[in-house]
Amino acid sequence: MTAHTGKPTLAVVGATGAVGRVMLQILSQHADIWGEIRLIASPRSAGRKLAVRGEEVEVVALSEEALSGVDVAMFDVPDEIARQWAPVAAARGAVVVDNSGAFRMDPDVPLVVPEVNPHAARSRPRGIVSNPNCTTLSMIVALGALHAEFGLRELVVSSYQAVSGAGRAGVDTLRQQLSLVAGTELGTSPGDVRRAVGDSTGPFSEPVALNVVPWAGSLREDGWSSEEMKVRDESRKILGLPDLRVAVTCVRVPVVTVHSLTVHARFEGEVTVGRAREILDTAPGVVLFDNPGAGEFPTPADVVGTDPTWVGRVRRALDDPTALELFVCGDNLRKGAALNSAQIAELVAAELGAL
Ligand SMILES: NC(=O)c1ccc[n+]([C@@H]2O[C@H](COP(=O)([O-])OP(=O)(O)OC[C@H]3O[C@@H](n4cnc5c(N)ncnc54)[C@H](OP(=O)(O)O)[C@@H]3O)[C@@H](O)[C@H]2O)c1
Repeated sequence: MTAHTGKPTLAVVGATGAVGRVMLQILSQHADIWGEIRLIASPRSAGRKLAVRGEEVEVVALSEEALSGVDVAMFDVPDEIARQWAPVAAARGAVVVDNSGAFRMDPDVPLVVPEVNPHAARSRPRGIVSNPNCTTLSMIVALGALHAEFGLRELVVSSYQAVSGAGRAGVDTLRQQLSLVAGTELGTSPGDVRRAVGDSTGPFSEPVALNVVPWAGSLREDGWSSEEMKVRDESRKILGLPDLRVAVTCVRVPVVTVHSLTVHARFEGEVTVGRAREILDTAPGVVLFDNPGAGEFPTPADVVGTDPTWVGRVRRALDDPTALELFVCGDNLRKGAALNSAQIAELVAAELGAL
């Protein structure tokens, strides 16, 4: 730990990105356990100033020197940058909390959700702890609570994913496309939206304004997408259920931030809605908002900017007394990325004796 403050030094690598900016807000809102907070990004951003804890801090370019003297390094950068630089930070003595997909399935890297498997963060042979993907994180706190009581056997999930899941470029693309279609009669004949949007599809394969796109990530075997494989593999790892049956379809929708999911969860034995509601009502990090008769269920418009996993539409499957149907919403930039990383970093700091 750095001698001059007595408090650990934190580096935020990728401080200028979509996740990094939310991280700075969270660091400004949470208990101030850190000594120096060092902001790091690409050389393009060096010299820019960003606000954290009410102070303007200058961004420095990622380098070995920038990573020295760091106790905890949060990485909020693309996979290839994390793959290269997270081991450098670890070799220089930092505990890395990595938000990218680079190490999540490495057996020597724990994949941690503090409400579900906090103990896993203590064993980190490579000095790296991974933060799960935002789609998995948007549902796993609620599912972890139900699993602890009922024993999860199978998940069938469809996602309705926000464009900020694809970073700043995703948000910029939706906003630009919305400006092209706003106030028009588009959306009434085949291809009219596509023609209006032209080539400006950004990180997406199709127009996302006035549209629904059944694709996120890159192509994997047998027609599955990388995002779908992440939800399956990461849910299994976090819950410690290597054989969990998981079927996922990931869909992009024209929402800025907050991933939503419909979940069909099958358990070991019969379940009741009453007990499921009690569990969800008391689970840390979960808000049950479920009174459809009064129009009460979570939607991204209300969930954005909040921390918990919101659950509504809790029903028992009509044809299977062992299964529940749920609608779940979570802010993909907060719990889905920055908040979970901050919580892991706080666990590590507590272990280092800072709390
Ligand atoms: N968006 C989400 O919902 C979400 C959720 C969970 C996990 N993640 C993961 O979190 C990571 C960051 O995602 P994001 O959405 O915040 O991406 P983003 O908005 O594109 O930001 C990328 C960040 O990485 C920095 N960076 C890029 N190249 C760099 C380099 N060569 N050296 C140093 N820094 C570099 C950028 O700095 P400059 O500004 O200087 O270019 C920026 O700060 C990704 O691995 C992503 O998969 C994202």
